[in-house]
Amino acid sequence: MKQPVEAVLVGAGGRGFDPFGAYALQHPNELRYVAVAEPVAERRERFARLHRIDPRYSFSSAEELFACGQLAPALINATGDRQHVAVSVPALRLGYHVLQEKPMATTPHDCVRIVRAAEEAGRILQIGHVLRFAPFFVAVKEAIASGRIGEVMTVDHRENVAYWHMAHSFVRGKWRNQADSSPMILAKSCHDMDFLRWVVDRPCERVVSFGSLSHYRRESVGSEIPDRCTDGCPIADSCAFYAPRFYLSLEPGWPVCDLSVDQRSDLSPEERMEALRTGPYGRCVYRCDNDVVDHQVAILEFVGGVTATFTMHGFSAVPGRTMRYDGTRGTLLAGEGPEGVRAHYHLGDREEALRIQPVAGGHGGGDVGLIRAFLQAVREGGGEVLTSARVSLESHLMCFAAEKSRLEGRVVDLAAYARQLEAEVAAEDGRA
Ligand SMILES: NC(=O)c1ccc[n+]([C@@H]2O[C@H](COP(=O)([O-])OP(=O)(O)OC[C@H]3O[C@@H](n4cnc5c(N)ncnc54)[C@H](O)[C@@H]3O)[C@@H](O)[C@H]2O)c1
Repeated sequence: MKQPVEAVLVGAGGRGFDPFGAYALQHPNELRYVAVAEPVAERRERFARLHRIDPRYSFSSAEELFACGQLAPALINATGDRQHVAVSVPALRLGYHVLQEKPMATTPHDCVRIVRAAEEAGRILQIGHVLRFAPFFVAVKEAIASGRIGEVMTVDHRENVAYWHMAHSFVRGKWRNQADSSPMILAKSCHDMDFLRWVVDRPCERVVSFGSLSHYRRESVGSEIPDRCTDGCPIADSCAFYAPRFYLSLEPGWPVCDLSVDQRSDLSPEERMEALRTGPYGRCVYRCDNDVVDHQVAILEFVGGVTATFTMHGFSAVPGRTMRYDGTRGTLLAGEGPEGVRAHYHLGDREEALRIQPVAGGHGGGDVGLIRAFLQAVREGGGEVLTSARVSLESHLMCFAAEKSRLEGRVVDLAAYARQLEAEVAAEDGRA
């Protein structure tokens, strides 16, 4: 029987618990946790209990974990956006192969640093770009790579974030504020940029972007609206964001688990109401401390003149990404909903629906695929991964360039931007 890959988990929050923890419980012969580091006691203890971790290897900080040296070949970094670098860089230097959640880092300079750390250590640093492992997106990639619509000339890629998901994650929740997390184009759309780069299969040369936080703000409603939905809101019946209606109607699972510290997904109606009265998710969406955009567009030009438009917004009643690729021999339409993937050809008036192998699990099967690919690369002693740090750097810089363009109102040249960042990091780190 195959021996499981031994790993340590840093960050036993939402992602650490599931999918990373859940995978080991479901596939004990593939992955086994030997240590956990997590500052929140409830989360740490629950993870340690479920994974039968020796109490000596249950740590309340990554620093304590690292003080013990390398405990396993692999480390999974599922901490929040702002902790990624501080955990992954020392882990790589200690010799761990690292599977780290996106974004790589919250500044472009730190993204460059983390790539350098991985390459200097000669260890895997795989970033959690789940789309490349989800069968729907793999089908799109393969269809384009097969050449059936000829050479792609232009792409229209939309990330249509559901209005309730926007409210939960980017207005009330963990990614609402840049100081705590990162710009929304990085937090939400580094996946899209990664996928765009992968499908177009050419470096991006220039980016321009526009966008703003227009709706989820104080001025959008009258001053009589209270800070919390539970404080007798006068527009509760007509407001799509009235928290009790939304959170009481949800089945157990995500996003209910975000309501409690120990991430229980089966909270009773009373427990949910108490969380709304006291916690962040009961706040009025027009009275939060959010500052990330609620809609943003980018126009990108790739080597050889391939163009793409990208739209991300948090107002969708019909959620899911939609894409359109126009090539020299046809058009490919793809939607995460029931529409699936369809190719239309110039000649013969033909149309074809592409088959997608359904896979269960989070992110359309992407979570499972991501973890499996990492474990395989660790088993090989440091094999190639599809979303290595170097590959991910390119798409992260596309996000940072778009944000720079949005804020500065100018076109950003990617190659010059990357050169400038490399030089700045070298100078700051005393390597120039
Ligand atoms: N790949 C994806 O599609 C995807 C989806 C959701 C979230 N994410 C990313 O995954 C990461 C985690 O998200 P989440 O929803 O699980 O967040 P979370 O806040 O639920 O979990 C993060 C955990 O890390 C812990 N932590 C913080 N600092 C630590 C440290 N120094 N050492 C050890 N633990 C520490 C926190 O206490 C928390 O429990 C984020 O960066 C997020 O952007 C990726």
